[in-house]
Amino acid sequence: MAMFTSSTCDIPATVAVPRHVAIIMDGNGRWARKRFLPRFAGHRRGVETVRDAVKYCLARGIDYLTLFAFSSENWRRPEEEVSLLMQLFMRALQQEVSKLDSNGVRLKIVGDLSRFDSALQSLILAAEQQTAGNDKLTLTLAANYGGRWDILQAANRLALARPDTLGAWSEADLTPYLAMSYAPEPDLFIRTGGEQRISNFLLWQLAYAELYFTDTLWPEFDAAAFADAISSYQQRERRFGRTSEQLIAPPRPAASSRLPAGSPAGASDAKINA
Ligand code: IPE
Ligand code: IPE
Ligand code: MG
Repeated sequence: MAMFTSSTCDIPATVAVPRHVAIIMDGNGRWARKRFLPRFAGHRRGVETVRDAVKYCLARGIDYLTLFAFSSENWRRPEEEVSLLMQLFMRALQQEVSKLDSNGVRLKIVGDLSRFDSALQSLILAAEQQTAGNDKLTLTLAANYGGRWDILQAANRLALARPDTLGAWSEADLTPYLAMSYAPEPDLFIRTGGEQRISNFLLWQLAYAELYFTDTLWPEFDAAAFADAISSYQQRERRFGRTSEQLIAPPRPAASSRLPAGSPAGASDAKINA
């Protein structure tokens, strides 16, 4: 299993198409209300948008798509909405997994799954097992996920595994214990629905992601809207602490992306060539 250390230590190679896109799918409720429909109709419509987003990523060669489906704070919603969301999640897993599998999608679910009922937990496990060998796209659904929960569970597991090293941990010691240690950090973060906040999503992993906010509501986030987000990403200059001048300098023959702290950067790979 490949491990990736934090982008605050390593400068990842950046390419025109982001390798990893993470999305807060927000605005389902407002989409429904605009149409005088119950909020749940928006969630149902949102599942269709997920299908389209997966298709888009497969077509564009995006390797990792991570979707925030249910946050650790969403339990605060009315009981009926929470229960309908759980049913929708179960049904989507039952109906979509074989299609995802035949399209080469590996499905992962991250979050504190212990709070879900056992039928849902078994479905999650089965879906992950069925698709474990696929490598076209890794689709991660964050469910009962919180960025603080993730950092804390990683620290606790590291403390149990390596009590001898307490007090001397590096980023690279912690990251293998994060829920998404199988993926590089997101290159592009998208939030639909107009709010400009992270809402306790991937706090650690978004340290150097490019952030993109759009007013488009999630049920209306179609391929053209996704393409706009990618275009915006392609216009960014990802400096990772360096200067613009350093990015346009020709790469040195022995340049490495692994930089000891404080050393000057020679690699030109952070320039995104659209
Ligand atoms: C996001 O849409 C979906 C979930 C949080 C499950 P919302 O339900 O938050 O939609 P708005 O923000 O109320 O429009
Ligand atoms: C964030 O959306 C969580 C998901 C999309 C699953 P919310 O709509 O719950 O976020 P806040 O609470 O308004 O920030
Ligand atoms: Mg919302």
